[in-house]
Amino acid sequence: MTASESLRLFRRGKVREMYVVDEAHLLMVASDRVSAFDVVMREPIPGKGVVLTALSKFWFERTREVVPNHFVAERDERSLLVKRAERIDIECVVRGYLAGSGWAEYRRAGTLAGEPLPPNLAESSALPEPRFTPATKAESGHDENISRDQLASTVGAPLAHRLEELSLALYLSGAEYAMARGLILADTKFEFGLLDGDLILIDEVLTPDSSRYWPADQYAPGKPQPSFDKQFLRDFLEGSGWDKTPPPPPLPPEVIRGTAERYQEALRRLTA
Ligand SMILES: Nc1ncnc2c1ncn2[C@@H]1O[C@H](COP(=O)(O)OP(=O)(O)O)[C@@H](O)[C@H]1O
Ligand SMILES: [Mg+2]
Repeated sequence: MTASESLRLFRRGKVREMYVVDEAHLLMVASDRVSAFDVVMREPIPGKGVVLTALSKFWFERTREVVPNHFVAERDERSLLVKRAERIDIECVVRGYLAGSGWAEYRRAGTLAGEPLPPNLAESSALPEPRFTPATKAESGHDENISRDQLASTVGAPLAHRLEELSLALYLSGAEYAMARGLILADTKFEFGLLDGDLILIDEVLTPDSSRYWPADQYAPGKPQPSFDKQFLRDFLEGSGWDKTPPPPPLPPEVIRGTAERYQEALRRLTA
């Protein structure tokens, strides 16, 4: 018997199912599905949903002083009871280091989210200070990076300012804790919702699905870093010649196992 049995489905995302518990609450169930380049792979990653649930719960409890969140209670090892909120359709990305699409933009244009950065920064360099680089949360297909000005014209300047302030505060608090555990939080993404007019943090938080974690003792800018997230899977997919449109290629057992191990290791390092 699982916690979601007999509940009505509210929404099925790439990774999570949300079920209606009552007017004010949802049950958030994390599956073992993994998505990369916004496409869900056919094979599950064993244990991944349990890791995401444990880490989100851990961070919701640790960061509630910084910003209130939707977490109410743990229901079982892959489901959390949460407060239903009116989602703000923005991915609130914070970057402390140059990686992924941030590095790609900088290499191409010398900017990050359209704003200038010092010249001659190497791949994986620490930024002079963390930057808020929002993206729209596309209903289907790929999220699109937008500038802070575009964000302000989409949601209004006061809300845009608040989203940035809270995202930066959450990033700093998470990064400081992770560093004490030997992990660099290179970048991460938050989602927020409105509940009775107040902003709350929703979805998952500071997990390897939403964040890049690098082992600090192996950190060396000028190249990609080893990581405790889906980079291992992305590297396999990049090398496979796949065009990043569905269907995805089959995942070899060693890629499934290697990804599962990295998620477990992130949980162990952050919480053990
Ligand atoms: N408290 C909440 N209230 C309403 N919606 C939420 C809440 N927490 C998370 N969600 C939404 O539920 C979905 C979670 O599933 P996920 O697999 O992450 O979806 P996606 O494919 O959109 O990333 C997301 O669309 C997320 O925005
Ligand atoms: Mg999501």
